[in-house]
This record gives sequence, C-alpha cells and structure tokens, in this order.
Amino acid sequence: MKFRFSGKSGLQLPLVSLGLWHNFGSEDPFDVARAMLLHAWDRGVTHFDIANNYGPAPGTAEMTFGRVLREDLAPHRDEMIISSKAGYLMWDGPYGNGGSRKYLISSCDQSLKRTGLEYFDIFYSHRYDPNTPIEETMQALVDIVRSGKALYAGISNYPADKQQECYDYLRAAHVPCVIGQYKASILCPETLQENLPVARDDGSGFICFSPLAQGLLTNRYLNGIPAGSRASKNVFLRPEQVTNDVVAMAQRLGAIAEQRGQTLAQMAIAWLLAKDVTSVIVGASSVTQLEDNIQAINNITFTEEELQAIQCAVSPRL
Ligand SMILES: NC(=O)c1ccc[n+]([C@@H]2O[C@H](COP(=O)([O-])OP(=O)(O)OC[C@H]3O[C@@H](n4cnc5c(N)ncnc54)[C@H](OP(=O)(O)O)[C@@H]3O)[C@@H](O)[C@H]2O)c1
Repeated sequence: MKFRFSGKSGLQLPLVSLGLWHNFGSEDPFDVARAMLLHAWDRGVTHFDIANNYGPAPGTAEMTFGRVLREDLAPHRDEMIISSKAGYLMWDGPYGNGGSRKYLISSCDQSLKRTGLEYFDIFYSHRYDPNTPIEETMQALVDIVRSGKALYAGISNYPADKQQECYDYLRAAHVPCVIGQYKASILCPETLQENLPVARDDGSGFICFSPLAQGLLTNRYLNGIPAGSRASKNVFLRPEQVTNDVVAMAQRLGAIAEQRGQTLAQMAIAWLLAKDVTSVIVGASSVTQLEDNIQAINNITFTEEELQAIQCAVSPRL
C-alpha cells in the first residue's frame, strides 16, 4: 500500500481506505464483514471509515467493527486510523441529528461504547447544519479532541463557502481540520472543482466517498440488477437509477479501463487518485470486490487521451 499525507498534517492515509456504510451491519453476514476487514488489513488498508448511523440497523457497523477489532486486530490498534461521525439522524428528538454540541458529544460517547475504542483517530461533523452556528459545531469538535475522545477533527459534506469558516475556527483553536470528506467520482466531479481547491489552499486533506457511484461505475449492473446488490435493496441506490444509458456508459468506460489493463472499478478509483486527493474510501460486499478495488493503486496515471476518452464516454454528446 502507498500512503499520502492528509494535507499539511503529519497524518498519512492509505490511497485506498475501507468504508463501512453498507454490508457491515447486523443484517449482513458477520463472516463476510470480518473477512473483508481482515483482508483490508492484510493488504495495508490502515484506515477504516465508520459513522454512528451505519448499519442497518444504525449503530451496528460500529459494533461489527468493534467485535473484529476485539477478536482479531486488537494488537494493531496503534497501526490503524479509525474514524466516526455524527450529523445525520441517529435517535429521536431534537438531540439526535444535526450539528449541536449536545448531539456531537453524546454521539461520540455512544460510538466509543459501541466500538469499544478509547478514542477515534478522526471524528467528523458529518454535515453542515444550517440551524446550528458553525462555531458551536466546531467547538464541539475541538472539545472532543481536547478531551482525548479523538485525535483529529474532520468535516464532511460542508458547502465550499462554509468549509473555510470551519478551517479558520479550528485552526484558531489549535485543532486544525485534518481532512474533509466529500462525494466524488467520474460521475460526480463537482466537489473536486468546488471543495478540493479550498482544502488544498488551506492545507487540509481531502478524502473521497462513493468513488464507484455505489456500484454504477463497476461491472455490477452490466447484466441486470443482481439479488443482494445495493440497487436491489432500493434505499440509497434505486433500481430506476440503473438505466440503459448508465449501463451503456459503464460499458464504454469498461472498454477504456480494459485498454489500461484495469477493471472499470479500478479505473474509477485510479481516476480520483490521479487528482490531488488524500485517499479514496471504497465500499465492498465481498473480499473479491475489495481486492479488485485495492489493485487500483497499481496504475494511477492517465494520458491526456485517456482522460478525454473518459469524459467522452460519460458525456458522449460533448
Ligand atoms: N461522509 C458521507 O456522507 C458519506 C456518504 C457515503 C459514504 N461514505 C463513506 O464512503 C464509503 C464508500 O461509499 P460507497 O459504499 O457508496 O462506495 P462505492 O465504492 O462507490 O460503492 C460500493 C459498492 O459498489 C459495489 N462494488 C464495490 N467494489 C466493486 C467491484 N470491484 N466490482 C463490482 N462492484 C463493486 C458494491 O455494491 P454491492 O453492495 O451491490 O455489491 C459496493 O457495496 C462508505 O462506506 C462510507 O465510509 C461517506
């Protein structure tokens, strides 16, 4: 595995990180989740990205991770970077959602209990909350770090104009924002244009999520919607998003990937790594998928012709 520094901090992250949003909850087979976590670890993936609400049921991805850590990986805790977040709905009432100090600190405490960890390496404000002053949310992150519940603070999904406010507040409090987490892929390049330059100028890291557009940028849907796939679950990826146009685009992109000696998933991850990002958080539902994704790091350079061909494959009429 190769590593990059997160912005101008001393924290290095692997080019490929593993996310536990899907396929690690109480409704998923524990043996598969465990196998993926151990495979990731064996392949040098030192960064595991979780959030309070990952499951389903919400909270159970943290429990799965905690169990594997306890039973298999405990001696390696100091070799790992484990992140969690709070920001989206986690429990009923006014204190289980958003960016209030009450929510972030209570949720961080709950996440530590579920994982069995003494501290997170990175704790994120998962989203910008327009109903809470940014100062309150950022001060909660500062206090989470100061109280030893996390080593670094991060933000996720903040609009570019709020991003700088976060950086400024955190730096003034001597808890600089180590990283920003944003959705980015060949199909979703907007954050690379809007948020990545703000992070880069500030010296903060930038980590991409949903690099495979939840599976659309892979061979997963070339022959219909397989049982058990994310689209078949009809929650975050809906069957109607798997259109003939999307499948045709995946086929065009797959042909370019093949010429590069890569799978489409590998090319989609490599395309992000060729930008100035710190790491790419992949999801997976099997060890085979995860290994496919990790091998993206073997070729992360693109010719100008390849980049144009990818652009053309995504927007054939341009
Ligand atoms: N900060 C935030 O707001 C936020 C939001 C979303 C995600 N995230 C983070 O980012 C992580 C990744 O997000 P994501 O799961 O949406 O990422 P993704 O990598 O775009 O999608 C993962 C899905 O794609 C399919 N897949 C993965 N590798 C494949 C391969 N090699 N071949 C074929 N299909 C493959 C699998 O679908 P099947 O399950 O159908 O097999 C897998 O579940 C999350 O786990 C989480 O840690 C953060």
